[in-house]
Amino acid sequence: MEINKHYFDTVIIGSGLAGCRAAIECINTGSVAVLSKLYPTRSHSTAAQGGIGAALGNEEPDSPEWHTYDTVKGSDFLGDQDAIEIMCYDAIPTIIELEHMGVPFSRTPEGKIAQRRFGGHTRDFGAAPVRRACYSADRTGHAVLFALYEQCQLRGVRFFQEFQVLDIVVENNSVQGIIAVNIKDGSLHVFESKAVIIASGGYGKIFKVTSNAYASTGECLSMLFRQGLPLEDMEFFQFHPTGLYGLGILITEGARGEGGILINGKGERFMERYAPTIKDLAPRDMVSRAILTEIREGRGINGKDYVYLDLRHVDKKILEERLPEITTFSKIYMGIDPSEAPIPVVPTAHYAMGGIPTDIDGRVLKDVDGSVIYGLFAAGECACVSVHGANRLGCNSLLDTVVFGRRAGKTATQMLKDMQKGRVKKDRIDKTFEEIENLRNAKGKESIASIRKDLQTTMMDKCSVFRIEKELKELLVELEDLKTRFKEISLTDRSKTFNTELLEAIELSHMITLSEVVAQSALVRTESRGAHCREDYPNRDDENWLKHTFAFKSDRGITFKYKPVKITRFKPEERKY
Ligand code: FUM
Repeated sequence: MEINKHYFDTVIIGSGLAGCRAAIECINTGSVAVLSKLYPTRSHSTAAQGGIGAALGNEEPDSPEWHTYDTVKGSDFLGDQDAIEIMCYDAIPTIIELEHMGVPFSRTPEGKIAQRRFGGHTRDFGAAPVRRACYSADRTGHAVLFALYEQCQLRGVRFFQEFQVLDIVVENNSVQGIIAVNIKDGSLHVFESKAVIIASGGYGKIFKVTSNAYASTGECLSMLFRQGLPLEDMEFFQFHPTGLYGLGILITEGARGEGGILINGKGERFMERYAPTIKDLAPRDMVSRAILTEIREGRGINGKDYVYLDLRHVDKKILEERLPEITTFSKIYMGIDPSEAPIPVVPTAHYAMGGIPTDIDGRVLKDVDGSVIYGLFAAGECACVSVHGANRLGCNSLLDTVVFGRRAGKTATQMLKDMQKGRVKKDRIDKTFEEIENLRNAKGKESIASIRKDLQTTMMDKCSVFRIEKELKELLVELEDLKTRFKEISLTDRSKTFNTELLEAIELSHMITLSEVVAQSALVRTESRGAHCREDYPNRDDENWLKHTFAFKSDRGITFKYKPVKITRFKPEERKY
């Protein structure tokens, strides 16, 4: 076995917004490698459509204090308020910095950065929707990522594209580096480093219907979990209200921000009943539940399992200039011109609120007391800092990636001089090699595609918007069965060149692990909060559950510990919109 060894001061996993923003920071003080299993500019950040939140007040009065309040309330009071304040106050300089780095934001007639309404973002502590999302038509993630990638190139960041990470090596409470395979030729690579920043994105592919890219499979989270490190708040998974029916492709909330409304089979604007003040611009957890309630109660379109997003009354020029992407998607995938007919939509798995626990500087936590793993950082969707709590507000995700990507990068650079170079031991490399070879040569009777399909279907049926004890327990039994079946998989491609079947096997194994953590975490939290809606425990229970879940792997299966929520300014209140 030939091993290719590399040394970089900082290794970053993931080339989306968080990874690229961290890299821009780290390159100031040392060498930086960014690994991505994709071509970097195909990272899932490019799929973010509607905007990045900041209380610039360019279109109407706004303040970071209102932004903070909205984010806390949107999180159903589970978000850590110290982190939320940092994010909302940092948002303004962050947008200006992005503008200076070359992001082509859409503009107001006077030339300021344009802003639109987004779910849960209000003025005067909930009085009415406010224009807070800065956007680049409906291709905001795309625009920001290309600018950050260019900045990385300009500064000499080294990209290793189409490299799949196999192991993140943590030993003696310190990160040592990572082991990866070059997808192009199957060669094994060891990257030793002082710091590792995980910015690998989410894992929406555990669900059947999702807005997430094929690559959103979450293996880095699972790699840490399998080593005994915790995952935080994994029961909270966001379903975006408007996925294209049957496909799950995102139709941006910006469509409602520009005036689009949801209507049911009776032609009613039903959000007026669920959120009388801000209606269609309520937070996503509420809108998704409302849509599915309408469908369950027989008020889907023609009694079917979808509702309409109606944009027919929106000025055609706005559709052309501000919503070109979703207009095209509707035409291509549904044969519908949104200026002439409403778009069939249904909630789609969109965003993981939970993830790798970190402190406000991106350092990975190893327990509920705040102890950290030396040299290991995480930022973006894979991390849980936690600014989104039980439910993320739209346009706070891009903001989170850039704000906390930068903070993680900055902290890493400050610590570099005191850090030891990591060392990845031979036995760890041998073990990884053996595991991947065993998979490549697997000759069982089960197909990867059929296990994955069954996993995604059962997660969707039993652990999506609505959850209940009986189904969660059934799900856990089914997951055990899927684990057994996985041991019997068979690969037909034994080559080393672009062996995507092997990659899918690696991903699937981690998806099963993560699904188990999500399902167990959902089972133990016996309340409803944000995106976690337990039909058998319909109320929020602050007395017992105003706390973060930390899930650990142990000999007894998954065990849980809890961490208090950081509450600074806003005491939990009833969440009315
Ligand atoms: O609806 C959207 O454009 C999605 C944005 C987000 O998830 O923040």
